[in-house]
Amino acid sequence: MPNPKYYFVCRSCETHIDSFKEWFQEGQKCPQCGSKWVDVKYHTDLEKIKGLIDKDNSQATSVFHYFDFLPLENKENIISEGEGAIKVDRWNFLEVFAKEQFGLNLEVLAYRNDENPGTGTFKDVAAAVAASVLKENGITQYCVASTGNIANAYAHYLALAGISLAVFIPDDALKANEAGVSCYGQRVFRVKGDYALAKKLCAEYSVKHGIHMSGGNIDPARVEAKKTQVFEWLRQLGTVPDVYVQALAGGTGPIAIDKAIRDIESLGLVKKDPRYIMVQASGCDPMTAAWDKAKANNFPDGWEHDFPIYDSPVTRIPTLANGNPQTFPIIGSLCKKTGGEIITFNEDLCTEVARLVAYESTIKIGPAATIAVGGFFEGLKKGLFREGEKILLNIGEGVRRSPELLEDMVYTTKSVSNVDECEPTDRSNFREDLWKPFL
Ligand SMILES: Cc1ncc(COP(=O)(O)O)c(C=O)c1O
Ligand SMILES: [Zn+2]
Repeated sequence: MPNPKYYFVCRSCETHIDSFKEWFQEGQKCPQCGSKWVDVKYHTDLEKIKGLIDKDNSQATSVFHYFDFLPLENKENIISEGEGAIKVDRWNFLEVFAKEQFGLNLEVLAYRNDENPGTGTFKDVAAAVAASVLKENGITQYCVASTGNIANAYAHYLALAGISLAVFIPDDALKANEAGVSCYGQRVFRVKGDYALAKKLCAEYSVKHGIHMSGGNIDPARVEAKKTQVFEWLRQLGTVPDVYVQALAGGTGPIAIDKAIRDIESLGLVKKDPRYIMVQASGCDPMTAAWDKAKANNFPDGWEHDFPIYDSPVTRIPTLANGNPQTFPIIGSLCKKTGGEIITFNEDLCTEVARLVAYESTIKIGPAATIAVGGFFEGLKKGLFREGEKILLNIGEGVRRSPELLEDMVYTTKSVSNVDECEPTDRSNFREDLWKPFL
C-alpha cells in the first residue's frame, strides 16, 4: 500500500521513494542514485494552506498547525511542546538606527526563535518533527553529530518520545550544550577534534551499530519542519520578507525557505523570493571566503564546488563552527539566485551586540543570534538593503544556550561596602556607550 499522504522525490534522478519507512530501509538515500537530497511531496490539496495561513486563524499553537504538510501520518505520534508558533517582533531601535545613520526607511523584524519552549533555539522545530517521525517509524535508537544546538534539541524531543540518542560533539562545544544533552540520560561522545571529526565518527557509529543518523542540513524531517516558517510569516505578516538574515553554519534555513516557496508557487501567495543574507562568524567563515572568491571571478564554471576547508576552526561561537561547508554548492546557489550575499561579522563584538539588544528590547539573545544581528549592521555598511524593505532577522537562539555569554553581558555592577557609594543611576546613561561599537 503506497503512503496515502506523502512521498519523496530524489533531487538528482527524480526516483520516487514511498515514505520514511522506505527511506530508512534504504539507508536514507535514493535507491537509484545514492543521493541524500530529496523533496517531500504531498497528496494534500494545496489550497488547504490558504486556510492555515489565514490571519484570523489563531489555532497555530505549534509547528503541527501545518500537520497536513508535514511527513507524518498519524497525529497520535506528534511530540510537541508548542515550538514553532513564535512571534515576529518589530525592532524599532534598529529601524531608527538605519534611518539616522544610513537615511534608510526599513522595517526590521525579529523572528523570535528564542521563545521556543524546548531548548530556546530554532532547532526545536526540527527536533519536534524528527522525534515524531522517528516515533511513527518505530525507531528507538538514533544518532546525530552537532556543534551543540541540534544535539540539545534532539536530546530533548527524543527523550520525550522515549528514543535513545547518541550525540557526537566537537571538543570545543559549550559545556552547557553537553550538560543539556547528558542530563536527559542521552549519550554524549565528545570527540577529540572538530565538527568534521564528530560527523565522521557519528557516521561510523551509525554503520557499526545499524543506528540511523540524522541527515544534517538536508534531512527531509528538518527541511519540512523549517519550511513552516514561511507559512508562519504569511500567517503573521501576510507576506514573506524582502530580505532574510541568518547566522550560517550549514544553512538549513534557506534550503527550507526555498522548498516552501517552490511548494506553494502555484498559489501566487509569494510574489518574490527573499534575498538571503547569510552571516558567518569571523572565526569560521569558509563560505564567505568561497563566495567572495566566486564573486571576484564572476562566478566561473564550477564555482559552487570551490570552497576552503578549515580544520579545527577557533571561534567564540562554537555553534557555528562548521569548517567543512559541504552545503556551499546549495547555499551559494540560493544566495546567487536571489541576489543575496554571504558575509562575515566580527565575532569579537558578539557581547556588545547581545548587550545592545538586551538593553533596547529586553530580549536576551544567544551567541549565534548575535552574529545574525551583527549581519544587519554589516549589511547596512555594505549597502545590502534598499529603501522601504522588510528585513527579517532570524533570532535563532536565546542566551539560555550560553551561560558564558550571559555572564559576559554584565556591565553595570559596582563593588561597594558602604551606602554612600550607592548612588541612584539613570539607565539611559548607558545607552551611548552601548551603541558606540556600531557607529
Ligand atoms: C542559533 C543558530 N543560528 C544559526 C545556526 C546555523 O544553522 P545552519 O547550520 O542551519 O546554518 C545554528 C546552528 O546550530 C544555530 O543554532
Ligand atoms: Zn536519485
